[in-house]
Amino acid sequence: MQAYSIIGITDSVLRERLAALTGGQRHVREAPVFLVWCADLSRFSDAVQLHGGELTTSTEYFLVATVDAALAAQNAAVAAEAQGLGIVYIGGIRNDMRAVSELLELPPLVYPVFGMCIGVPDEQPDSRPRLPRAAIYSENRYSAEGRLEQLATYDEEYRSYIRSRAGGGRDTTWTQEMKDRVAYPSRKITELLREQGFHFED
Ligand SMILES: Cc1cc2nc3c(=O)[nH]c(=O)nc-3n(C[C@H](O)[C@H](O)[C@H](O)COP(=O)(O)O)c2cc1C
Repeated sequence: MQAYSIIGITDSVLRERLAALTGGQRHVREAPVFLVWCADLSRFSDAVQLHGGELTTSTEYFLVATVDAALAAQNAAVAAEAQGLGIVYIGGIRNDMRAVSELLELPPLVYPVFGMCIGVPDEQPDSRPRLPRAAIYSENRYSAEGRLEQLATYDEEYRSYIRSRAGGGRDTTWTQEMKDRVAYPSRKITELLREQGFHFED
């Protein structure tokens, strides 16, 4: 379905405004390339209409478009990194999705999933440790066996990584970071998505 579109922000005034809307993120303003990755069912809808039909959106189609945008973006990320470039995903583009949608003149059935800064990295940090394989992979059935031990092991690895990466200034673990996250309310996006024509029904 290729249910995604990419908007490259080349206009510096627009870039400033987007940077402000993402909470004043400097890299959004300064990165050589800034892309907005959109989930896009409008092309799908036009194709259906061309043949006399009408698209009724659904939770499934919302998911398809979001997954398409994410897959395309991650392929771009891998391609950029393979050429020695660096990227930063910008979920901050959803802080004020209504303003971003107006600014970019997004039509119905399109919403911004995330932004992406692309540039030349000026640091080469060690790779952030990931959850152990046993925590995310199981065979033939779902398994949460050994979870607490896995989290404890990962927390220690994560703590020492964060300590060294932040120059010793921060002392936290992955589970603590997850706990800190829920102290902030999650972004409110459902109403705007409905306004944009996405329906969460089957
Ligand atoms: C969906 C998504 C949204 C993100 N949003 C932001 C963001 O708005 N601002 C930011 O600085 N980093 C954001 N990040 C994090 C960065 O892209 C990057 O993954 C993070 O800085 C970790 O980098 P590291 O792997 O080099 O440690 C986001 C990551 C993801 C996956």
